[in-house]
Amino acid sequence: MKLPAFGIDLITTFPLGFVATVTAGGRPNVSPKGTFLVLDDQTIAFGEIRSPQTVTNLTNQPELEVNFVDQWTRKGVRVRGKAQMIRRGTAEFGGLIEQWEDIWGDLADRINLIVKIPVDQVKPILTPSYDDGATEEDMIATFKAKFAETYP
Ligand SMILES: Cc1cc2nc3c(=O)[nH]c(=O)nc-3n(C[C@H](O)[C@H](O)[C@H](O)COP(=O)(O)O)c2cc1C
Repeated sequence: MKLPAFGIDLITTFPLGFVATVTAGGRPNVSPKGTFLVLDDQTIAFGEIRSPQTVTNLTNQPELEVNFVDQWTRKGVRVRGKAQMIRRGTAEFGGLIEQWEDIWGDLADRINLIVKIPVDQVKPILTPSYDDGATEEDMIATFKAKFAETYP
């Protein structure tokens, strides 16, 4: 399935996704990955550097969901798909890793696996403030002020 333009823009601008997987015992596991890339309009991927539980879970059960949120507009996207593990040393890994090197430089050397996710489902996420009539400009102004307070 195709990612809508807003999803592509959001993931490209804010490549930090929270990846939800499930253990063999059925326990949920969520952890952040900041190395997401949009490979094409139907595929996203992240670099696995030190995510042992996520890898174990995906080996047993490749279904995952990942959420991306723009912390300023308070809009996001949730993406579901079945992960494919592309291991370092394979031709496919060699063909893809340059894209991580271009953005993350030496960090790319630490990527063990590229976790590729052909998109099965995409849903937008909005903060409830939009239900009450807030605009994007309102949200950006509010959170710019909050972040400036936190990190002046
Ligand atoms: C902001 C942020 C970004 C991160 N990005 C990545 C990443 O892209 N790849 C990775 O393997 N680990 C990344 N991590 C580290 C993992 O989330 C962390 O090692 C976590 O404990 C792995 O848990 P898991 O084994 O349940 O996936 C990141 C952590 C943070 C806080």
